[in-house]
Amino acid sequence: MAHELPILPYPYNSLEPHIDEQTMRLHHDKHHLAYVNGLNNAEAKLAEARLKGDYSLVKHWEREAAFHGAGHFLHCIFWENMSADGGLPSPELKKAIDSKFGSFDAFMAHFKAAGAAVEGSGWVLLVQNTMTKALEILTAEKHQDLSQWVVTPLLACDVWEHAYYLKYQNNRGAYIEAFTKVINWNDVSKRLRS
Ligand SMILES: [Fe+2]
Repeated sequence: MAHELPILPYPYNSLEPHIDEQTMRLHHDKHHLAYVNGLNNAEAKLAEARLKGDYSLVKHWEREAAFHGAGHFLHCIFWENMSADGGLPSPELKKAIDSKFGSFDAFMAHFKAAGAAVEGSGWVLLVQNTMTKALEILTAEKHQDLSQWVVTPLLACDVWEHAYYLKYQNNRGAYIEAFTKVINWNDVSKRLRS
C-alpha cells in the first residue's frame, strides 16, 4: 500500500495569525507531499531490488526511506499536534510533565530553548520512553537519525526553515512562540501511554 498525504484536519487559514495560510499551503501541499512521494519511491526501489536480487544501491535507498519516512510520519503528527482551540494537557499528561520537568512553565521554557538551538533543519520533540514511560525533550537535527529509539513522539515542532520563513524570516524563536499558541493538547494527551 502506497503512503498518502493526509488531509489537513482543519482549514489552511485556521491557525492564523500564529501560523499563516501561505506557509501552511506550501508546507503541507509541497513539502509534506515530497516526503510521501520520496518514501513511496524508496520502497518501490527496495522492492525491485529484492525481486532482482540486486542490492548494489541498497545503502542509497535505505537512506532515502529513512529520510522521507521520518519526514512523512513526523509531519503527520505535526499537523494533528496543532489546533486553533487545542485545550489543555490532560491530568495524566500534566502529571507526567510536572514529574519530569518540575512544572509546565519549566517544560515550555526547555522546549522553546531546545527548538531554537537546533542547528540547521530539524525538530524539537516531546517524547515518551516506551521502557520507562517517562517524558523527555529531544531534538532531531537530522530527522532520519532520531537520537533515542525507544520513544514515542507526543509533540513535534517542525523547525525547518520551510515551517516559518515566509512569516518569521530568521526569527525562529518567534515562530516557536507562535507554535505554542496553537498546540493541540487534546491530541498530545491522547498519545501518552500509561
Ligand atoms: Fe516541515
